[in-house]
Amino acid sequence: MDDLDEPPPDNLRKYFDSLGFSEANRTSVWGWIKLLLDHSPTHGRHELRVLDMCYNLGDFIEKNGVYVPVSKNELVYGGGLHDTGKLLSDRRILEEPWDSRDQHIGEMRQHPLNSYYLLIGKYGNLGHQDLRVHAYSALVGLFHHKFHQRDRYPKKLPRLGTPFSAGTIKRAESCSRLVALADIYAAAVYRSGNLDHEEALKMLADNADSCERDLLWLMQLRGCNVFRIAA
Ligand SMILES: [Fe+2]
Repeated sequence: MDDLDEPPPDNLRKYFDSLGFSEANRTSVWGWIKLLLDHSPTHGRHELRVLDMCYNLGDFIEKNGVYVPVSKNELVYGGGLHDTGKLLSDRRILEEPWDSRDQHIGEMRQHPLNSYYLLIGKYGNLGHQDLRVHAYSALVGLFHHKFHQRDRYPKKLPRLGTPFSAGTIKRAESCSRLVALADIYAAAVYRSGNLDHEEALKMLADNADSCERDLLWLMQLRGCNVFRIAA
């Protein structure tokens, strides 16, 4: 794979192996993440953290028999590609300190829509032959600030016709809500450092619907912090 020819980190390889990712998909997912790491190390690392958390979250859901209409596989794809659209954001803005981000809120709010367009292949493969279309993750990227987070965007969604069935859209919406838990936690605890673990969990629960609140409650009950990762 041209200039993306660098192996993924060990944890990612382990996840890909355990989920049975095909060679083409592991190359593509890592390729999109690697591009983001090169474009903005800060946001590339965030993407990796969220993928890591989504794997742990999927593991917890599986092991505890929690019913959610989303597989661990979908969570890892969705989490690992949710912010792909930041590839189209100005890298100087992305690398600015956390507290400056409000000055560029309009540009930053483009990224879910850009994740969608990039991952459905609207802009091709950006010159990297091994990057693939990831249609389901495109929806998760589009929705991840739409249904859970307090400041919801994009206000207007593009028309979601073919190839998406109503069932796929619903499933991706559920996945995006779970990805948003990891995304918000990672941003608050690891990226900005504004909140500690307990405060972040409270914020998640305050903004969650009943399904995610039950999940968070169960995690606390079992003493399991799926968000604890090597930052
Ligand atoms: Fe985002």
